[in-house]
Amino acid sequence: MDFRPKILVCPPDYYDVEYVINPWMEGNIHRSSQLLAVEQWRGFAGVLGRYADLNEAAPCEGLPDMVFTANAGLVLGQEVVLSRFMHPERQREEPHFKRWFEQHGYNVHELPKDLPFEGAGDALLDRERGVLWAGYGQRSELDSHPLVAAALGVEVLSLRLVDKRFYHLDTCFCPLEGGYVLYFPAAFDAHSNRLVESRVQPEKRIAIGETEAVNFTCNAVNIGRVIILNKAGDDVRSRLEGAGFQVIETPLTEFMKAGGSAKCLTLRLTEPAIGEPERARALVESRVLRLEGHLLDSGLLDRALDVAVKNGGSFQILSFDLGRQRQSISKAEINVSAPSKEALEGIIAQLIDLGAVLPPEDVGDAVLRGVAQPGVAPDDFYATTIYPTEVHIRGKWVLVGAQRMDGVIVVDEAAARCTLLRDLETGESVVVGTRGIRTVRKTESRAPRSAEEFSFMGAGVSSERRVELVVDQIAWELRRIREQGGKVAVVAGPVVIHTGAGEHLARLIRDGYVQALLGGNAIAVHDVEQSLLGTSLGVDLKRGVAVRGGHQHHLEAINLIRRCGGLAAAVRQKALTGGIFYECVTKGVPFSLAGSIRDDGPMPDTEMDLLRAQRDYARLLRGAEMILMLSSMLHSIGVGNMTPAGVKLVCVDINPAVVTKLADRGSLESVGVVTDVGLFLSLLVQRLEKLEAGAAA
Ligand code: ARG
Repeated sequence: MDFRPKILVCPPDYYDVEYVINPWMEGNIHRSSQLLAVEQWRGFAGVLGRYADLNEAAPCEGLPDMVFTANAGLVLGQEVVLSRFMHPERQREEPHFKRWFEQHGYNVHELPKDLPFEGAGDALLDRERGVLWAGYGQRSELDSHPLVAAALGVEVLSLRLVDKRFYHLDTCFCPLEGGYVLYFPAAFDAHSNRLVESRVQPEKRIAIGETEAVNFTCNAVNIGRVIILNKAGDDVRSRLEGAGFQVIETPLTEFMKAGGSAKCLTLRLTEPAIGEPERARALVESRVLRLEGHLLDSGLLDRALDVAVKNGGSFQILSFDLGRQRQSISKAEINVSAPSKEALEGIIAQLIDLGAVLPPEDVGDAVLRGVAQPGVAPDDFYATTIYPTEVHIRGKWVLVGAQRMDGVIVVDEAAARCTLLRDLETGESVVVGTRGIRTVRKTESRAPRSAEEFSFMGAGVSSERRVELVVDQIAWELRRIREQGGKVAVVAGPVVIHTGAGEHLARLIRDGYVQALLGGNAIAVHDVEQSLLGTSLGVDLKRGVAVRGGHQHHLEAINLIRRCGGLAAAVRQKALTGGIFYECVTKGVPFSLAGSIRDDGPMPDTEMDLLRAQRDYARLLRGAEMILMLSSMLHSIGVGNMTPAGVKLVCVDINPAVVTKLADRGSLESVGVVTDVGLFLSLLVQRLEKLEAGAAA
């Protein structure tokens, strides 16, 4: 061995498991043997001493984890970045290590308070590539990486740790001599794995499985061709030997009870500087965003911060102005960081959908790109949401027209509107990226006023007794909308007829509570069958029994309407004299029936061209204040996709999963009712009668 590095260790005089700050320590308090720990440490130090000069830091009583000197700081050349521990239990080690470094002539860099960085435990030098691999997501903060890069003059590559057991980078990642990397891929998120794969050629990657990883196999000390670790396992050992390494195992089980092993017990003190200051940077990108509204009550802040973290980013709250009254809004300024530019873009897009905005000085005009192929959007197009959206065009915020989700924004001169991908025409300008986009979340939508109208709405799905309360409120709303000349649309499935509620829906239409009816072929067929023959799919609705040869009824209903030339014609010819569609035709309430592959017939009124059917639905929904979705999952999902935020959605279904799916649109204006749609409609009609009687009296 021509080069003997200096390594900092700390004898285990006061080592023990005294608290729990990682999963390994759980259940191990005072369970490690002091005697055995000392013996194992001496054995390890003995092996290490053959290849390196050991420098001992004085152990301190009451600081049991000081043995893990990897966490003292990170050394490069004469510079050291001191650790800022995440847990108070270990923060008490900081002054001791600081003094040690100062006394030994290092330039000590200290990170800002509250910005955890746990030294060489979370940052590993890769000499072959001249980079520093740095972990975040468990102990160290992503935002520490750019500061470390600057302090040490090195390029930092950030890796996100996603498994609590592998809470420090050195528990699952180990750069070795010759450019090899020993690591446990499952401890990292997909983005990090891609980063490793893009920087380390396949033949240099030594990926290990969980069985080895939990033996702290990656927690290895590598000096030249020698690798010292707790346990390698036959497979990993032979792979390491195949790469030209000599593997030395030395038991460190007592230290594993605290979540550490060989590498954790060491800190390399001789790390020649890399000397490429021009590359000294981290790939980390960050941006400042503002949020306004009922940030705490509505859980918005929580959700926003969650979006950042779940997508591999990190945040700092720069300012938070808490509204003191229930009515007053709060304002927050957050700095969001992500390990790369693309990752940051992804996070920002989601935050904008939550209503976050860039500070005015950072706002620029939206970026537009032309459509080159009809029906195809340019790359990176901005996908719309249900929320009112504004685009910054020529220095001004412009409200987007025809708001709906799953579309793109087309800008024409100074106007903007939502368009479906398939409707794009060559030469149109589409907004790409998230620059110059903001969604407008009305604060009223979280204020008590609307929450009172549908007081259970926040609770999402209701059932049992609550149904009655819900129905009361819906009846009240229906009346209000009717009195004000507003619009209510109903989406209904055939179950409405099966459950015997056809007469109730017909009644609502007759009494002027419904301004548009949307459905499929089936509801019309069943409705006609019911009013002509008293059965629905051959079941006698009055007696609840199947009629012999009943399926014939179903086809006869279809045949009759086909002969007449459609539902309206059937009413005119007095062939159809009652039911839902009879009421629609006589009251002039427009309806739209969207076809599907399973349709019998279909009825002449059923639109089998789905693009046209979608367009027709959208036309009928325009201007609706409230939409009742009655046991029709697919048609209701279709309707939900066309509807902007602010429209009240009432979803009724006997299946809670369907209700949750429909009601959960991130919009407080939707409410789910889990109940039989027949009972729901009969109750609704009763309540309306009562309201009307009350109004007449
Ligand atoms: N109990 C210590 C902690 O949780 C163990 C540290 C292990 N050190 C390391 N570099 N992985 O902080």
